[in-house]
Amino acid sequence: MRSLQRQRKIYLDGFAGKKPSTPVSYTGLEEKARQLLRPEAFAYLAGGAGSETTIDANRRALDQVKIHPRMLGGVQEVSMQQPWRGHTLPAPFMLAPIGVLELAHRDGDLAEARACAAMGVPMIISSQASHPMETIAKHLGDCPRLFQLYYSKSKELSQSFIRRAEAIHCSAIVVTLDTTLLGWRLRDLSLGYNPFIMGKGIAQYYSDPVFNALPDPVQTELVKPPMTLELIQNLIRLNSRIPGGFLANLKSGKAMKAARKFTAIFSNPGINWDDIALIREWTKLPIYLKGILRTDDALKAASIGVDGIIVSNHGGRQIDGAISSTEALPSIVSAVKGNMEVWLDSGIRSGSDVFKCKALGATGVMIGRPYAMALACNGEQGIIDCIANFMSELELNMALSGCHTINELNSTLVSHPWKTT
Ligand SMILES: Cc1cc2nc3c(=O)[nH]c(=O)nc-3n(C[C@H](O)[C@H](O)[C@H](O)COP(=O)(O)O)c2cc1C
Repeated sequence: MRSLQRQRKIYLDGFAGKKPSTPVSYTGLEEKARQLLRPEAFAYLAGGAGSETTIDANRRALDQVKIHPRMLGGVQEVSMQQPWRGHTLPAPFMLAPIGVLELAHRDGDLAEARACAAMGVPMIISSQASHPMETIAKHLGDCPRLFQLYYSKSKELSQSFIRRAEAIHCSAIVVTLDTTLLGWRLRDLSLGYNPFIMGKGIAQYYSDPVFNALPDPVQTELVKPPMTLELIQNLIRLNSRIPGGFLANLKSGKAMKAARKFTAIFSNPGINWDDIALIREWTKLPIYLKGILRTDDALKAASIGVDGIIVSNHGGRQIDGAISSTEALPSIVSAVKGNMEVWLDSGIRSGSDVFKCKALGATGVMIGRPYAMALACNGEQGIIDCIANFMSELELNMALSGCHTINELNSTLVSHPWKTT
């Protein structure tokens, strides 16, 4: 078992006085990232909406799921592999779409792509990535990839993103439903920090021909920021970041216009079920809806022929007080009766969490903040270590619970306090 080799190497390195270069626990990752990052960057990655009760709820719910390990299973080898849309996943998880990864590390999504390629774990490319999807795809090699769409106010732009995702051989489109508006995020508000205004995380937009052809928005802002040294520094950074060259951007105002245009069309609060039907018409790729927390929404999704859902509260970043995704999962799984894939994210911090969600009936899970913090701690190697640690713990828990293959993870191995009707 690979987990045993990994465990042995870590202990032998320790014997030689060498500690793991990437922290092994989530709290260790978060603590090291906090020390390394600028306060604004750390706040953006770690923070959630309001008083962050949903971030806590995500963890509390996973802690309430109890594993009932089966003894004497005679398990000497474990297979965590899972087939998915023509691919064989090494384990039942993918990396969640996380925008503005340049805040964690200068290589951002490119480091993530290389780590995914090294480990064979699918990457979900974000609409808010720091690099164009075509560049990210080059670093992914043959590794499976999906594209996450924030449905824009410009339908043509959303369609263009989907065309580009098809061209880079994405296996599916993930439409995120829960971020039609940014949640009320106290850490970012307290620091007055929004990365998009700085021109960060908008690479998919300024690399898009439809976006570039859209007319510049009429300036509607009534309040202008005060002229300060910080403002001038940020304007210099913004003009350097957007392609075109610093001086040319400054003269033409291109960078400012791109950032303003992005803010004007970023996400469409008017999105409804008809738009999902429209997206269905635009592409033959499988469609996943991300942000479902209710059984009626899950059933509606199944009834209109989407291919899967991701039970998620966006890592507690959108509605403070929203139900945790793990608590929502059992009734959704029971309602959809296997008619569609049901993935989950929000709060997944370890291989043990993956075990629990698989046993609760999820198709698989998405890992979010752990890999972003690992990226901050140790770049591409950090994400590789993070994935390897998830795999090792899952493999050990399966072996210790009497499971030879991933299909054996079922409801007989866990208990939870929630009703499923
Ligand atoms: C910093 C940050 C940026 C995110 N950006 C996106 C994004 O661009 N698109 C998206 O669908 N979800 C985004 N998410 C949500 C994640 O895909 C995922 O739902 C969430 O991280 C799961 O919660 P967890 O990280 O606490 O496990 C983001 C999450 C974080 C922490």
